[in-house]
Order: sequence, then structure tokens, then C-alpha cells
Amino acid sequence: MTDMRIQANYSLKNHNTFHIDVKAHYLVEIEKQSDITTLRSDLKLAALPWMIIGGGSNLLFTHDLEKVVVSCRFKKIKVVKEDEDNIWLSVGAGLDWHTFVEYTVDHGYWGLENLALIPGTVGAAPVQNIGAYGAEAEDTITRVQTLNLFNGERREFRHSDCQFGYRQSIFKTEYENSLLVHRVTFRLRKAHAGHPNLYYEPLKEALNDRDKTELTSRDVFDAIVEIRQKRLPDPRIYGNAGSFFKNPIVSEEYFQKLVEKHGDIPYHKMLDNQYKIPAAWLIEQAGWKGKKCLNKTVGVSEKHALFLVNYGGANGEDIVMLSQRIREDIDHMFGIHLEREVIVLK
Ligand code: EPU
Repeated sequence: MTDMRIQANYSLKNHNTFHIDVKAHYLVEIEKQSDITTLRSDLKLAALPWMIIGGGSNLLFTHDLEKVVVSCRFKKIKVVKEDEDNIWLSVGAGLDWHTFVEYTVDHGYWGLENLALIPGTVGAAPVQNIGAYGAEAEDTITRVQTLNLFNGERREFRHSDCQFGYRQSIFKTEYENSLLVHRVTFRLRKAHAGHPNLYYEPLKEALNDRDKTELTSRDVFDAIVEIRQKRLPDPRIYGNAGSFFKNPIVSEEYFQKLVEKHGDIPYHKMLDNQYKIPAAWLIEQAGWKGKKCLNKTVGVSEKHALFLVNYGGANGEDIVMLSQRIREDIDHMFGIHLEREVIVLK
């Protein structure tokens, strides 16, 4: 067990971006396939349920975990294929996402620059199909290699097998806590063959004074970093897990009813005539933006209403309670039931 770490009674405070201080019965870090069979043969580990954790940027812990918490430590980047215009990189799931995005723009590759500064690991990208500023992980992912947590078996998924959706994939549903993402393959465009994705209006505006034909992926990356730093609370300072709720999707008929009652509502029209409404807008309208409660330990960020924040010393239940109160208000005011994006471990 030379390159495997097993830690007992381990505080997860630095393994979740809400900075909630709970303990895992065991934390194990896996590097390669054979680590799983070795760990499974350890009876004290095999007797407990196993749970996978990435960067903990989408999780809310509410109590100590009588579990084996598994994280992937494999971090290598390997070129698997290239042609004149494209490069395929296979990347270890344990690598920090932003570090990888920065590596790609340093090499001039296009494809991931809009996803800069998203907290978490490469392995979480396909699980959650992370997305921001007009891009989603699934736009560039071609293959996902997994390890079965019960027997170590390898399995490779092609893009079409992953059942990607809005913050959704098969790794979160059918294979939750049974398949560990080990490597992810991305197809990126080489410097000369790519172009900026300026679909997100504020990004386009930020780059307005630039000649679009001369932009590099590094320029777009820098603009995204600036936008995020300005508009979103930094999880290293104010514990949070990004968007707490998903943006709700309503029918055209219901959307019209809402407009009659509430006036102009920002929206994004979907291909199937449905309307996606920013949950942040609903939460702000309900008066929650910038509010603090429970002795100011928890609250809704004053920068962005979709971010619930641990201002210090809050526990997971406090944040759940705040989220329930917000949900009730949105239900009551708009007849919309917000669905959590963050996974709460009860
Ligand atoms: N808005 C408000 N009040 C606020 C913030 C936003 O009313 O405090 C309204 C504005 O009308 C704004 C609209 O909400 O135009 C949309 O806001 P924003 O562009 O910040 O995006 P979002 O819908 O709140 C989504 C993703 C983010 C991603 C951004 C940018 C979800 C649940 N969230 O947020 O992803 O970074 O778009 O593309 O889809 C995450 O998933 O954790 C995440 C941060």
C-alpha cells in the first residue's frame, strides 16, 4: 500500500468548499486500479458504505460520516491523439479543475477557457456536467474512464453513454458512489483552429473593445476570471458551493402567467419552448439577497443571490434550514419549487 493513504477519523473541513467541519470514518485516496482491490480486502473498510468525493465543491455535509470517503489522486495529463486542428488530452480525475484549464490556455488550446475558476476536480466535471458562461463540460468531453468501487473493474464511457444533461450525468444517477471517475478525455481545438465562445452577453461586453479575430483562449480565460472575481463570493474566504439551486424551467403558459403578475422577468428560452428562469432573480425578488441569519453565521451572498454562504462557524443543518426558508418563499411567491443543485448529505 505504498502510494495509498488511509486516514481514520478524518476532518473534511478542507475537503468541502462550505468549510463544514465533519469527520469521515475513513478517507482513502486512490491512484490506480489495483488500489481498489487492495482496499476492499481490508475488512474494516469493506464493512462500511463507500462514498466518492471530488473537490467537495457541490456538497453540503450535515453530520459525521460513518463511511469510507474515497477520493481520486490520479492527476496525470497525457496526449492521446492529435490531428491538424484538434488535440485529445486524457486527464487524471484528481487534478484541480482550474489548474487544468490554465494548462490548456497556456498551450493555446480552445474549449475550456469559459470554465475557468470553477472550484473542484477534473473528475467532477463529467459527473456534474459543470457549466458556466455559455459552455458545458460535455462540449469537450469525448470519453470517461471509470473504476468500479466494488471490484476495481475498468469501464470506458463514450460521450453518448454519459447521459449528459443540465448539471446531470449517468455518474450522478445510475452509478452514484459505485463508479469512480479515474480519467477524462477532452477534445480541444488547437490555437489556429478555435474561436471564442462569446454567447454569454456580459463576456461579450467585457471583450467589446478587442479585435475578435486576435483573441486567444488566454484572453477569454482572463476575462472570465475577472468576471467571476467581481461577481461571485470567493469560496476560500466565504464558504459556499456555487449555485445552491438549479435554475427552474417552466412552460410557456406558466411563464406568461408569471409575467402578468410580476412584470418583466429575465429568462432563457429553451429549444422546446420552455423558459429557464434565473433562480438568483427569484431569490433576490423575495428579498433574500445579502441577508444574514443565525447570528450572522449563514446568509445569502450580497454579490449573487444564488450563493448561500457560511460566514464562519455554521453547520450543515443551518445552511439547509436557510435553504428551506428560501424555498418556501419562492414556492409561495412564484409557485415554483426550487431544486437543489448542491447535494445534501443527510
Ligand atoms: N440575477 C439576479 N440577482 C443576482 C444574480 C443574478 O437577479 O444576485 C439574475 C440576473 O438577471 C442575471 C441572471 O440572474 O442576468 C443570471 O445570472 P448569472 O449570469 O450569474 O447566472 P446564473 O443563472 O445565476 C448560472 C449557473 C452558474 C454559472 C452562471 C454563468 C446554474 C444553477 N448556475 O448561474 O453555475 O456560473 O450561470 O454562466 O445554472 C454553478 O453551477 O455552481 C454555477 C455557479
